[in-house]
Amino acid sequence: MELLKGMENKPIGRIYRLYKKGVLRDLISTYREDIARGLDLKALWKKHEKELPGYIDRKSFKLLYELLLGSLKAKRKGWDLVIGKQEDVSLATPRWIAMHRANIFREIDGINADIALGIGLQAIELADQGLIGVEIDREKAIIATINLRLNDKQGEIYCNDSLNTEIVEVLKKKSLKIMCDPSRALKGKKGLNDLEPSPWQVLNTYREAELICLELPPLTNIRDIFVFLNDINKEYKKEYVLEYIADDHRVNRINLYLYNKGVSRFNEPLIRIISRDEEFLMPIVKEERIVPRDMSIRDIDDSLYVYRMHKGLDINGLSPIIFDMFNVDKKIINNSRDVWFLSEEKIVFPLVEGPFRIIGKGSMNTIKGIIQEVYHGRATIIPRINLTNYWEEKKRIEEKLGIKERGVKLYLLRDNSNLLLLEPIYQ
Ligand SMILES: C[S@@+](CC[C@H](N)C(=O)[O-])C[C@H]1O[C@@H](n2cnc3c(N)ncnc32)[C@H](O)[C@@H]1O
Repeated sequence: MELLKGMENKPIGRIYRLYKKGVLRDLISTYREDIARGLDLKALWKKHEKELPGYIDRKSFKLLYELLLGSLKAKRKGWDLVIGKQEDVSLATPRWIAMHRANIFREIDGINADIALGIGLQAIELADQGLIGVEIDREKAIIATINLRLNDKQGEIYCNDSLNTEIVEVLKKKSLKIMCDPSRALKGKKGLNDLEPSPWQVLNTYREAELICLELPPLTNIRDIFVFLNDINKEYKKEYVLEYIADDHRVNRINLYLYNKGVSRFNEPLIRIISRDEEFLMPIVKEERIVPRDMSIRDIDDSLYVYRMHKGLDINGLSPIIFDMFNVDKKIINNSRDVWFLSEEKIVFPLVEGPFRIIGKGSMNTIKGIIQEVYHGRATIIPRINLTNYWEEKKRIEEKLGIKERGVKLYLLRDNSNLLLLEPIYQ
């Protein structure tokens, strides 16, 4: 096999041989159990050394051990039987997201090409329609091949730069849809310009593809995405869906799906918000919506519901769009890392947490009274709240009120010297 040429005696080549002999699958499950029970590299080697074929030397075994540590990590992302180094697994796609993207690809006929294959996890889900995978790093390309086979999937895997003319020629001969989850700069730079391969080059190279899905860094601001879309649409008329994927009320992934004209089932640009069990579609609001001045806690009406939106959404520039969708215009300012807002209606939405009920508000001098009023004597004397030590104070209040025993969580929101006491409403 082309991919293995010259790699036969490298550790990854030897691990591939284990797979070829049909022993890797069983070995993964036994060794993973041993590792989970606490065996380290040395102990694992000692236990299994004798039963392993002679070509698995210590160096290959070390790599195998690393790939199994990653395998355990991948299990937590929903992948039962894959291997990979831990750092690659942490960048790889969780299974539910890979399945969701594969469903979108299934709406259109043609072969899928993953041009930033990594260890091939997204590709496992894309393989049912036929798969070409391109990965610049040979070791990863081999691991991706093993992962596909372990999951009973087939694909043509190439080790190459996916923008290299030779590979582009191969790919262009097929009717293609392109998946590209590029590498990001690890530190510092986090914009669209810091992706590898670059979104502009991918688009230039594969402009004829019916569908191109680009994964963008999760904190990319929507304005930067609009600038990018504006630029590319001057040259290539594409329709698009901008997708925010949320896990635990945070934006984890942004996907930009670019369709050739007439290919998408929607006839207007959309924002789609996805969580494990919900999907929201919103038309794109181009003009800036002006959110009225932030409210001070003193002015807040207790009859309203309170919600928490992750600050990432403000950074993404999405909060005005979400406020608009729910007809909400009152934001509570506070010094925490989240954005809190008020709504007259109850809201269920993957990117906002709540509702919370206001169980008390006032200045820090009156908070003692508030707590006593709300809990009718269940609260004893609460010492004056020292705002310079918020977390300790919060813990002390929680203990006094028996918050843990009541199975609820207490939130203290503050702006300047005002406090808001919140309790989640469980529905
Ligand atoms: C974030 S990872 C992809 C993870 C993958 N989606 C998964 O679920 O396993 C990005 C990969 O793109 C590869 N890559 C970066 N530039 C490339 C290029 N020009 N051609 C091919 N692969 C490239 C990197 O080596 C890296 O493995």
